[in-house]
Amino acid sequence: MEENLKIGICLRLLLLQKRNYQNKIKNMKRQKIVAGNWKMNLNFQEGRDLASEIIRSMGPTEVLAILCPPFVHLNHLSVLANGVSNLEIGAQNCHQVASGAYTGEVSASMIKSVGANFVIIGHSERREFFNESDNLLAEKVNVVLQNDLRPIFCCGEKLDIREAGSHEALVGSQLENGLFHLDSEAFSKVVIAYEPVWAIGTGKTASPAQAQEMHQFIRSLIAKKYGSEIAEATTILYGGSCKPDNASEIFSQPDVDGGLIGGASLKAKDFVAILGSFPKQ
Ligand code: PGA
Repeated sequence: MEENLKIGICLRLLLLQKRNYQNKIKNMKRQKIVAGNWKMNLNFQEGRDLASEIIRSMGPTEVLAILCPPFVHLNHLSVLANGVSNLEIGAQNCHQVASGAYTGEVSASMIKSVGANFVIIGHSERREFFNESDNLLAEKVNVVLQNDLRPIFCCGEKLDIREAGSHEALVGSQLENGLFHLDSEAFSKVVIAYEPVWAIGTGKTASPAQAQEMHQFIRSLIAKKYGSEIAEATTILYGGSCKPDNASEIFSQPDVDGGLIGGASLKAKDFVAILGSFPKQ
């Protein structure tokens, strides 16, 4: 009887160990994400209609869809997305300071308070038109994480940098200065978007091989800094003229975990088609 009890306990322990191991493997699977960056487009009614159409036509999916509209849409879109599985709302920017006399700015805690869970940080248009430096972006990343939001951190080179063969050095320094001050726990909340500036809104996509090469490079930098387990678990999105007709090829690359979509995210049909462009598991 006692022997049977011992065998029973051993079997239970083995089963628990197996379950823990399976959970670990499952957790290591990278989250696939398609995020729509609406930029400065769509008034309130247009945004509401687009989000409703996306929700209506999104089938069941394991891919996480994130809608990143201008601030004025955040509250309403969060209400619309409430209860829709695999749909989140994100902002396109936030101020680096918690609160105060910064007329016209929006804080991370305000974004969180309306139900958004993500913030795009360091988009090339913010770097270019609003002179956002790596140091400023590091501050923004911090305030985002302090408010229990997840940054979608953008990096990517301009055409002249690529032509000079300095794209890896440039992207490496963007990550080093904007993100790599984080400890492992904070870093594991970050989503990275590699967006070659020459491919944004130009109709010129990076070839799947070019995207893979840079994503692999970025993952190797993460592995060096945080170890291979965290690197393997980090979602790295591609952005730049990603559309329904090129998404499958790009998403089939082993280090590409989805996309940050500008123009094509403004059409429900295109955005939903891109959501369905991952290789079948
Ligand atoms: P695009 O924009 O898809 O219109 O090229 C991508 C982005 O800027 O995030």
